[in-house]
Amino acid sequence: TEQQRSNVTWHPSLTRHERNQLRGQRGFTVWFTGLSASGKSTVATALEQHLLHIGLASYRLDGDNVRFGLNKDLGFSEKDRNENIRRIAEVAKLFADSSTIALTSFISPYRADRQIARDLHANASQGGDDPLPFIEVFVDVPLEEAEKRDPKGLYKKARAGEIKDFTGISAPYEAPESPEITIRTDQLSVEECVHKIVAYLAEKGLIT
Ligand code: PPS
Repeated sequence: TEQQRSNVTWHPSLTRHERNQLRGQRGFTVWFTGLSASGKSTVATALEQHLLHIGLASYRLDGDNVRFGLNKDLGFSEKDRNENIRRIAEVAKLFADSSTIALTSFISPYRADRQIARDLHANASQGGDDPLPFIEVFVDVPLEEAEKRDPKGLYKKARAGEIKDFTGISAPYEAPESPEITIRTDQLSVEECVHKIVAYLAEKGLIT
């Protein structure tokens, strides 16, 4: 009723700090970058499961839920990849702002695009809130290793000229210069990769 509604007092707006307090966790973004078949999605999925198991809201953005929906109008030209990453960065920022741990697993081959994503988080400090933490994870494997794995047969097709602009073959991959974390998925197990990231997050006080 009108009377009941008038008894509801709305807080003008919660600060992010208040939201984090009420939800009992901090929101931030873990940004995976690496070649196709480097292991980004495998490690991000395992990390998501680990975080959920210890009671932390966490959500993974990847090609399956982004390139078929929000970004289904985009292909793999440089311009489309720029726009793909820009939109993903905006969405990750919103998840992080909502006190969720956003995990993104996209090749994100251009350094400038990843910098835009980072800056977006750094500048998300309206109302005196702290910037949103942004943790870049370089999923580092040699191209030869990714090409040997080739789970979808895409490298083979790219070599045969059947796919154009394929990252690492006919389109660039600009490796991060100072990522927060580097994982070698050809040297560590998935569990070891997850442990390395979790240890970093705990050390920085982002999770407890
Ligand atoms: S990007 O560069 O960040 O916009 O790419 P992303 O959205 O992560 O999509 C990469 C996946 O799309 C498939 N695919 C291609 N990758 C690279 N180059 C070209 N031309 C291409 N065409 C299709 C490929 O399966 C990638 O999957 P992952 O999971 O990375 O192996």
